[in-house]
This record gives sequence, structure tokens and C-alpha cells, in this order.
Amino acid sequence: MKRIPHFLEINRPSILPLIAAILAIAIFILDTVTDLEIAAAVFYVAVVLMSVSFCQKRGVMLVGAACIALAILSYFLTRSGSPEAGLINCVISISAITATTYLVLKIDSARVAVYEARAQLAHIARVTALGELTASIAHEVNQPLAAVVTNGNAGLRWLTNQPPNVEKTKQTLERIVREANRASEIVGRIRNLAKKTGPQNERFNFNETVLETIALMLSEIQRNHVSLQTELQDDLPLVFGDRIQLQQVVLNLLVNAVEAMAMMEEGPHNLLVSTTNDNTRTVLFAVHDTGTGLEPDKLNRLFDAFYTTKLEGMGMGLAISRSIVEAHGGRIWATQNERRGAIFQFELPIRRAGMP
Ligand SMILES: Nc1ncnc2c1ncn2[C@@H]1O[C@H](COP(=O)(O)OP(=O)(O)OP(=O)(O)O)[C@@H](O)[C@H]1O
Ligand SMILES: [Mg+2]
Repeated sequence: MKRIPHFLEINRPSILPLIAAILAIAIFILDTVTDLEIAAAVFYVAVVLMSVSFCQKRGVMLVGAACIALAILSYFLTRSGSPEAGLINCVISISAITATTYLVLKIDSARVAVYEARAQLAHIARVTALGELTASIAHEVNQPLAAVVTNGNAGLRWLTNQPPNVEKTKQTLERIVREANRASEIVGRIRNLAKKTGPQNERFNFNETVLETIALMLSEIQRNHVSLQTELQDDLPLVFGDRIQLQQVVLNLLVNAVEAMAMMEEGPHNLLVSTTNDNTRTVLFAVHDTGTGLEPDKLNRLFDAFYTTKLEGMGMGLAISRSIVEAHGGRIWATQNERRGAIFQFELPIRRAGMP
């Protein structure tokens, strides 16, 4: 069984294998000291069920086999009671353990298939979102490259001066290196977003992720005459989860907000992006826009798959965002902005202290 990295399992105590082992020993003792007529061995199914959360496919099979071996061993060790009834009970227990192991493995492979389908869909949506931002990204990469050319020409001029100005040439070369690094960082970010990787859980600075996402959209923001304001809390605790997937959620919400404002010809185009951690248990990310706003009767459909009001929309952005946030143990919701526009927010739980 392929282990699905579940974000919630970060809070799961690692003593579960120990509890399962103690339970198995307790059942074995109970099964051996009690009468052969009492089928205490059926309780081994609980051990098999517990093993799913800390074992892979082979491990669960091994646990099942070990439980069967213990049930048989205790049948031979038990002295009291009728041997016929004991044999029947032993067969019943073995059947229960086998059936449970089989069903547990089946259910888990279905869970893996659903999980993989979701990850693939998220990847496709990410690449599609990047495709929509091509013009903006090209502009972002082009800016540092243009600066490289300008500084290169200036450097050549300082060198061909008589006498050559070494100090000025050095400064232009430093600027070239800085700008080239900037271009390479932008390309790196895009590559990361487009890459197909399995979930990678890590602790990361969420504000940085938000700023990186905004950087990818800057030209799009400018092109649509959006005035951007960021209020990112300074001492925001590190967030634990899949950075790329959470960046995808931020990107979806920002793209939606800019699209909603692009549809409004009149009035201000104000985008407020904020992060806070008021209640110390969660990190809250919010996007306030002054776009088309949300119709109250459509509020509960926004996050449904394929719900879209756009001609070229797929209606998957918010559905995928919700599944990502919920897989991280968080929640996402939308409300109407006070005067006009919408507010989309999501909160993520912070890992409890003392966790690895
Ligand atoms: N900031 C917003 N303001 C107003 N309406 C919004 C906003 N964000 C989302 N919506 C509404 O929710 C719908 C669903 O959004 P979602 O991001 O899931 O799909 P989409 O943007 O239509 O298409 P795509 O799959 O390309 O993202 C949008 O079509 C729009 O009607
Ligand atoms: Mg969208």
C-alpha cells in the first residue's frame, strides 16, 4: 500500500505502533487464559485496522499474518474448554482477520487512486494558470534581461573610455550579476510551479510565498490598473505544508481577484492582500478586491467543481484551492466586501509546539 502523505498526520502521535503492539499482546494473553469457547482472537482486527495508519501495504499484511499466528499459537496453548468449540472460534477469528486485512488494503488503494487523481488535477490546473499568465511572466523575465543589456552597454562604454573607468565598470558588472540572478529566480519559481512533484511537506515562510506569487503577477496587476496593497504580518509563524500547493491557492485567489476587477470599467481597482495570525492557532490569508462581487445565492456554489461565470473559465480554481486547504486541515471561504467586491480568505492551522 502506497502511503498517502496526509497533512493531518503531522499531529498524529508516533506511539500508535506501540499501542498496537500492547493491544496485540493483551489480546494474546486474554485469548490464552480464557476458555477455548471465547473467541477473544477476533479483537485482532482492531490491531490490523490500527496498522493501516503507520504501515505500508506489506507491513499491514505482515501484521495480519502475525495476528493469525498468535491466534493459532494461543489455540494450542489454551488448556481449558472444548477443543471443537476452540477450533471453530479459531477459524472464525482467522477469517475475520483475513477479511479485515483484505478490505483494509482494498480501501486504501482506492484512497491512493483518489489522491493521485487529485494531485494530477491540481498539477494540470497549475500549468493552465501559468499558461494564462504567460504574457505577464514573459514581461517579468524580460525586465531584468533588458537591464542586463543596458548595463552591459554602459560597462563597455566605461571600459573604452580613456583611461578606462574600472570602478564604474565594476559597478555595472555587479548590476548585471544582480539582474541575471533576478531573471533566473523568476524562471526558477515558474519551473517549481510547473514541475510535477509529489507532496513535499516542509516548514516555510508563508509571507515569502505570497510575495513570490505577487511577483509573478505584477505585470498583470499593472496591466489591469490595479493598485496593490500588502499587509503581511511581520512575525508570522512558519506554516507547515506543501509550499507549491499552497502557492497555487494564493495564485488562484489573486488571479480571480484581478479578473473580477478587470470586468469593472468604473470605480477603483483596489487589491488588498494580507496575512495575520491573530488567534495564535492559525495563519489567515485574505484577498480583498473591488471587483464584480458575489451574489448571495451563488455563494455556496463558488467552490463547486466546474462552477464558472467566465467565458473562458474552467471553474476549477476554487474547487482545487478548497481541496488543497482542507487537506492541510484548514478552511477557505468567501464573503462580500463592504462596499463592493469580494473577500476570499483561508486559514491554516499552525503545528503544535514540540512536533518534529
Ligand atoms: N474575487 C472574485 N470576485 C467575484 N467573483 C469571483 C471571485 N473569485 C471567484 N469568483 C466567482 O467564482 C467562480 C469560480 O471561480 P474559479 O476560480 O473556481 O473558476 P474560474 O475562475 O471561473 O475558472 P478557472 O478554473 O480558470 O479558475 C468564478 O467564475 C466567479 O464567478
Ligand atoms: Mg479562477
